[in-house]
Amino acid sequence: IDESVPPQTLTSRTLEGLAEYIKSGKASRIVVMTGAGISTSAGIPDFRSPETGLYANLARLNLPYAEAVFDISFFRENPEPFYTLAHELYPGKYRPTITHSFIRLLHDKGLLLTLFTQNIDCLEREAGVPDDKIVEAHGSFARQSCIECKQPYPEDDIKRHIAAKEIPRCHHCKGLVKPEIVFFGEQLPQAFFENRTLPMHSDLCIVMGTSLTVQPFASLPGATRERTPRVLINKERVGGLGNSADDVLLLGDCDDGVKRLAEACGWLEELEKLWAET
Ligand code: APR
Repeated sequence: IDESVPPQTLTSRTLEGLAEYIKSGKASRIVVMTGAGISTSAGIPDFRSPETGLYANLARLNLPYAEAVFDISFFRENPEPFYTLAHELYPGKYRPTITHSFIRLLHDKGLLLTLFTQNIDCLEREAGVPDDKIVEAHGSFARQSCIECKQPYPEDDIKRHIAAKEIPRCHHCKGLVKPEIVFFGEQLPQAFFENRTLPMHSDLCIVMGTSLTVQPFASLPGATRERTPRVLINKERVGGLGNSADDVLLLGDCDDGVKRLAEACGWLEELEKLWAET
């Protein structure tokens, strides 16, 4: 956006302008959209960061191409790479970040309309964001089932197999078992389609830690009303964020970004206390 175009809702496209808007009480229905970038400081690599991203490091699994690890037809052929990754990514080993606690704080303040996450690490739940406020657009490790007969598979069985680096097989038909993570080639959960119009009803949109490269999730920030301020808290500019009159860019590490925003809103102490208890 060129600087000559004034914001329609914020007094300025800055952290201060954003904090003033939030403290005014006008931002009472906040939608949050997140990706792997909010879990990197918890020790979980993201996908596309050069050097550290998962896709740069899956070469050791000799995949035809990196995203094959989450491709349903490849998985049928060879479930090995996915289960090697599952052993590293399985929830329970990681602690939520202060960014996850910031989302929980928005909920505690009655300001969170919905969190749309692409992450499968369940750290939002562990940070205390209630289930009915989370849309796990790409599924999660929370449930697993047989990809052939669709029978649910017991959680403690899959945990045991993943820990032992074994491939779990369906107790009924011997088919491959897969956590209900959305693989390339699979449909997103119903909950995504039922909630994808919610950004239209929001009065603030916060996008954090995502490259916005995967559709249809990447279309969510564009589903807000024109006058709704949007803030990107991310290492790099992504999507169309920054092109609308009320967009605010807080580029850099998301943990620093949420601390700066919390401080500007007078919530920093509360946020740090909440995170310390997580
Ligand atoms: N602070 C802020 N931004 C960060 C941080 C951080 N600590 N770490 C990484 N980022 C940014 C990166 O610069 C990048 O823009 O977060 C973004 C992460 O992008 P991806 O690695 O592509 O992750 P994500 O957007 O979640 O991927 C979307 O792709 O493979 C599929 O299904 C998978 O859900 C995943 C989807």
